[in-house]
Amino acid sequence: MSAPGPSEPRRRRFGIGFFFRTLGLIFLAVIILGLTYLLYPRPILQSEPIAAPPAAAHVDHLRPVSDFDNIADLRARSVALFEEAGRVIQNPRCMNCHPRSDRPTQTDAMRAHTPWVSRGFDGGGEPTMRCSTCHHNENIEASGVPGNPLWHLAPIEMAWQGKTLGEICEQLLDPARSGMTREELLHHMAEDELVGWAWNPGGDRTPAPGTQQEFGAIIAAWLDTGGACPQ
Ligand code: HEC
Ligand code: HEC
Repeated sequence: MSAPGPSEPRRRRFGIGFFFRTLGLIFLAVIILGLTYLLYPRPILQSEPIAAPPAAAHVDHLRPVSDFDNIADLRARSVALFEEAGRVIQNPRCMNCHPRSDRPTQTDAMRAHTPWVSRGFDGGGEPTMRCSTCHHNENIEASGVPGNPLWHLAPIEMAWQGKTLGEICEQLLDPARSGMTREELLHHMAEDELVGWAWNPGGDRTPAPGTQQEFGAIIAAWLDTGGACPQ
């Protein structure tokens, strides 16, 4: 054992080595703290329901039944009433579900349904692609997919697309095609919930003109005046 000779430089307590060691320790501490902070478990962001935008204001009203009282000729009045109802019937909201092929149409432009779907045996889609796969019990605002518990396509004998209003009128009044008596027809138009969807279509779809109540009143007045059809 030899004591440090006088030639060996005395180690300075706070030398350059100490400085780097301390710096290293601080670094390590910062890294550990940083990792602890980053890896500390915290709740994952949950999806939240998006508030539905307020329903579009119904600026586009149907004319009240009293507006037609001044048409003296009963037949002419009846036709005029049905023409007013035609603003709803020939609206894309109704027509999209009453196509003349097996494929529904979409949007105000009534383009063919994308993806390709077909009515299937019951109007509810093919077994491999049911309407209810995408169309649920109500409109889904986030995805823009419209919905109703009864969502399915009107039978082919109730096709409206490509027909004149007069032809649709004759067909509605023919129980062999509509499957309905006049009373049932009125009830269906005025009260049916699937028909009612057309006034609450969700997304940025244009609702059918007026309200279902106004529409029902016009259909009732049309039937009361004899249910005449436009030529
Ligand atoms: C793979 C998903 C999917 C399936 C299956 C599906 N749809 Fe759709 N459908 C949509 C989407 C998405 C829209 C909205 C498109 C838009 O408005 O841009 C839509 C819109 C519609 C519309 C248009 C509504 C309107 O007036 O704008 C009708 C009608 C419709 N579907 C009927 C049906 C019927 C009937 C079936 C079954 C035979 C069906 N769909 C199956 C996804 C689907
Ligand atoms: C989502 C699809 C869908 C929409 C939208 C729709 N319908 Fe229909 N409609 C049907 C189906 C399906 C039937 C067959 C009867 C049934 O199963 O209730 C039908 C039948 C009818 C009938 C029976 C008589 C006939 O000859 O067509 C009338 C009337 C009718 N719809 C009126 C309307 C009116 C008016 C609107 C719009 C305000 C409308 N529908 C919108 C699916 C639709």
